[in-house]
Amino acid sequence: MNKLLKTLLSALSALPLAYLATNTYLHFKHPQTKWDWSEIDTEDSEFPDDFLWGTATAAHQVEGNNENSNWAAWEKQKNENGEPRIKTGDVSGKAANQWELYEKDIELMKELGVNSYRFSLAWSKIQPDKDTFNEDALQHYDDVINALLKNGIEPMITLHHFTHPIWFEELGAFENEENIKYFVEFSQRVFARYKDRVKYWCTFNEPNVYITGGYFITEFPPGIYSPVTAGIVFENILKAHVKTYKELKKHEPTVQIGIVQSTFQFEPLRRWHLGDWAIARISSNIFNETTLSFFRTGTMNYLLPFETSRSYTDLEAPNTIDFIGLNYYSHHAYKFDFDFRKATQSIAVEGEEMTDMSYTIYPEGIYRAIEEVSKLGKPIIITENGIADAKDDRRGKFIKQSLYAVSKAIKDGFDIRGYYYWSLIDNFEWAEGYSMKFGLYEVDFETQERKLREGSKEYIEIIKKFNSK
Ligand code: BGC
Repeated sequence: MNKLLKTLLSALSALPLAYLATNTYLHFKHPQTKWDWSEIDTEDSEFPDDFLWGTATAAHQVEGNNENSNWAAWEKQKNENGEPRIKTGDVSGKAANQWELYEKDIELMKELGVNSYRFSLAWSKIQPDKDTFNEDALQHYDDVINALLKNGIEPMITLHHFTHPIWFEELGAFENEENIKYFVEFSQRVFARYKDRVKYWCTFNEPNVYITGGYFITEFPPGIYSPVTAGIVFENILKAHVKTYKELKKHEPTVQIGIVQSTFQFEPLRRWHLGDWAIARISSNIFNETTLSFFRTGTMNYLLPFETSRSYTDLEAPNTIDFIGLNYYSHHAYKFDFDFRKATQSIAVEGEEMTDMSYTIYPEGIYRAIEEVSKLGKPIIITENGIADAKDDRRGKFIKQSLYAVSKAIKDGFDIRGYYYWSLIDNFEWAEGYSMKFGLYEVDFETQERKLREGSKEYIEIIKKFNSK
C-alpha cells in the first residue's frame, strides 16, 4: 500500500473518534437542562423586599392609532404571494386603545399589585416628521407618567420597541449609520422632558428580534432576507445604544439605562447529529451572542459561516449599561439543512407542552437565560416573560414555575432586580395579529372591556406575598 493511501485510511479511521469527541464536548458544554417539576415545590420561593414587580406593553401593540410608522405601513401590505403580511389579516387599528384608556389600565395594575410598568413611547407620534415634535403627544406621556407615579407605580420607558416613524424608515432606518443621530436626538428630547420622574430607561427592545424578524425570517419590516444587511444593522443599533447612553447619562447620572435582550436557547433536534448542533450553535451565536458579547467584551462578532461576517469593537461598550433587560419565552430545536432558512424553522421541543405560539413551555429555560446574561456582570431585570394562552389553561402554572425558577436564581446568587410579566392586556402580536393572547387581562376589542384571566390570579398571589411596597 503506498504511503498516501495509508495516511488517508488512518485519517478516515480517526473520524468516528473525532465525531464522538466533538459530540461529547458539545453535550457537556451545552446541556439541555430539564427539571423534574413533580419533585419541585413551587411555593418554596423568596424575593427581595425592593423587587420590581411589573407588567409590560409596547406602544404599537396597545395604544391604537399608530398610523405613521414602519409597522403601520407594513401591516397594510401584501407579501409576494398576495397574502396579507399579518397572518390573520389584522391591522393594529385601535388596538386596546390604551392612548385613551390608560387610567383604566393603571387601575388594573393596582388590582394586580404591581409596583412598576414598562411601556414604550411611540416615536412616530412624538416626531411625526423630521422637523416636528408634537406637543400633544409629549404631554400625553407626561400625563401617563404622572398618573403612574400618583398610584405608586414606577415607570420604565422603552425608547425603541420595533417601531419608528415612517420618515426614518424611508431614510433607511438603522441600515444607514448616518441615521443614528435621529434616534439619539429623539432620545435626548424625551429624556430631557421625563428624566426627573422616570428612573428606568431601555434604549432598544430586542435588537436581535428586530433584526432576525426583518432580515432573516422576513415577517417584520423591511422583510428582505439579507444576512449582510442584518450585520450592518446590528452594528448600527449597538452604536446607537452606546451614543444614546453616553448622551443621556451626561445629563442625569443617577438614572438606570439598559438594553433589552431576547434570549432563546437553540437545541439540536437530535443531540447525536453534528449538523443539528452546527445550526443550533450558529443560530445561538447570531441571536444571543452578537449583542451579549458586545456588552461583555466590547466586541461584536457576527458570523454566518460561508455567507457573511462582521466584527466591531468599542471597548467602552461594557460600561454603557446599568442593567441588562432579559426577555425570555422558550427554546427551539433545529434540524440540519444546507439551506439556513429551512434549517432555522422553529421545531417545538418534543415532550413539552405547547404555548399558542410555535414554541413550548420551558420555565427552567429562564434560569439558563439568567446564567447566560449574568456573564455581563450587571444587574438583571426580567423585562418580559409570559405565555400566549387563549384557553387560559396553562398560564397559572407557567407563572408559578417561571417565578420559582427566578427565585431559585436569586437564591443561587444572581443579581435580579425585577420581573415584568408580558403582557398586562391582550394586544397586537406583530405578525400574528390579534390571535395571540398574552394578556393577564383579556380584552374584548369591540367593547374595549378588560377582564382578569383566572390564571393571572397566581401572579396576584405571588406579588401579594412578597411585595412590601
Ligand atoms: C416582544 C413583544 C412581543 C412578545 C411576545 C417579545 O419578543 O418584545 O413585543 O409581543 O415577545 O411574542
